Amino acid sequence: MKFFVDTAEIDAIRELNDLGMVDGVTTNPSLILKSGRDILEVTKEICDLVSGPVSAEVIATEADVMIAEGRKLAAIAPNIAVKVPLTWDGLKACKVLTGEGHMVNVTLCFSANQALLAAKAGATFISPFIGRLDDINIDGMDLIADIRTIYDNYGFETQILAASIRTVNHVLESARIGADVMTAPPSVIKAMASHPLTDKGLDTFLKDAAKAGIRIL
Ligand code: E4P
Repeated sequence: MKFFVDTAEIDAIRELNDLGMVDGVTTNPSLILKSGRDILEVTKEICDLVSGPVSAEVIATEADVMIAEGRKLAAIAPNIAVKVPLTWDGLKACKVLTGEGHMVNVTLCFSANQALLAAKAGATFISPFIGRLDDINIDGMDLIADIRTIYDNYGFETQILAASIRTVNHVLESARIGADVMTAPPSVIKAMASHPLTDKGLDTFLKDAAKAGIRIL
């Protein structure tokens, strides 16, 4: 499973990237706002740091303007994936931009039918939002499973990018189902390293090491 990190914070991306945990980055206008940075500037910096796909989102709602914005974003670096919303205009923009050889991430996907349309429009990535479905008491994992089944039934090459991941269980379930990629905030990726039995076991080992007077350095 590929790991994308869902943030525009350079220091957090660098730390995870140095550990080999970053296969790509996703951003959106809310994450750009949170970073306090200019979108073109911070996106360029992220692309210089990470070799995998870096999603940068358009803000237009009409296909023609989305395409123009997508071209400008794609010109930042060869590893840009232009992010377009799953609207009819977004699908039109997806078709044109992928036809020009750009990677496209179709975002804000909340149904399997939407995902089917994105695949037919040639999307590189489809981003089903798990957490936001959970927020309204709909199981986001059912959506990931449905898309996996449908894409496999017909051999679509669009990669399933499990998004809006809020918990370590979202990561686990997405991996079980076979999502190609997951994108999560740095805090969720770091939380995957934690287990209470690891903490308890380490505590015992450290106490015993002290009792035994063990010194290594
Ligand atoms: C993905 O590309 C989105 O940026 C992100 O996963 C949205 O997550 P949220 O629903 O927690 O804001």
